[in-house]
Amino acid sequence: MFVIAQLSDLHANGTHRNRGRIEAALDYVNSRADGIDALLVTGDLTDHASPEEMAEARKLIHSPLPTLVTIGNHDARPSFNAVFRPDVEPTSPVNVALTVGDVTLLAVDSSLPGERSGFLDDETILWLDHELAAAPGKVVVSFHHPPVTLGMPMMDSIMMQQPDRLAAVLDDHPNVVALVCGHAHTPAVTTFHGRPLCLAPGVASTLNLPFEGTEVVNKNQPAGVAFHLVDDDGRVITHFRAIP
Ligand SMILES: [Fe+2]
Ligand SMILES: [Fe+2]
Repeated sequence: MFVIAQLSDLHANGTHRNRGRIEAALDYVNSRADGIDALLVTGDLTDHASPEEMAEARKLIHSPLPTLVTIGNHDARPSFNAVFRPDVEPTSPVNVALTVGDVTLLAVDSSLPGERSGFLDDETILWLDHELAAAPGKVVVSFHHPPVTLGMPMMDSIMMQQPDRLAAVLDDHPNVVALVCGHAHTPAVTTFHGRPLCLAPGVASTLNLPFEGTEVVNKNQPAGVAFHLVDDDGRVITHFRAIP
């Protein structure tokens, strides 16, 4: 069993509130690291992508686990790369891979510079196709923006654009056992192009469904983490935990 802990939508912004929620989420994962194989962080590390917020996110995302981090619409490639990957070209998409045994975890940059919605650009699609072809076994593919609507009108208006580009890559690679993402600040499960698609809860906040309230952002729900368990047959079981 390969276990991935996924955190999403940290939104580090210098406030005591958000910092406390991010620290609690990392503590929850790190204190159970013996049973976990990898930590995945799927974007919106910051609120405004400032160098100060990015430095705060870098400081808070500390773990003894192998860690993969990609960005969301609230982040920006130059400020992320300056802090997390200073050797990389500032505008490079944040596409990163980790293989442990026969499980590969890919974190794909779905950010679209200057936009709230997402998009997998040509460089990222090529990278994804190459990594999937090279993977020795099962692959979990992650990104920030959901490639489907979720019954959440505001979020659905800023989802991944042209999700058929992702679907076309999946057609060529049956080794993708699950897709995971964030952005919608809601623990949710659905499918995309015949594969399981799982959304991690938001660390910073939860977004209401239309019948839960007139406010889009619900700050009263606790932070959360998703644990994705990949079994030997490639079946993925996701458990969600609220973090008090
Ligand atoms: Fe977010
Ligand atoms: Fe987002």
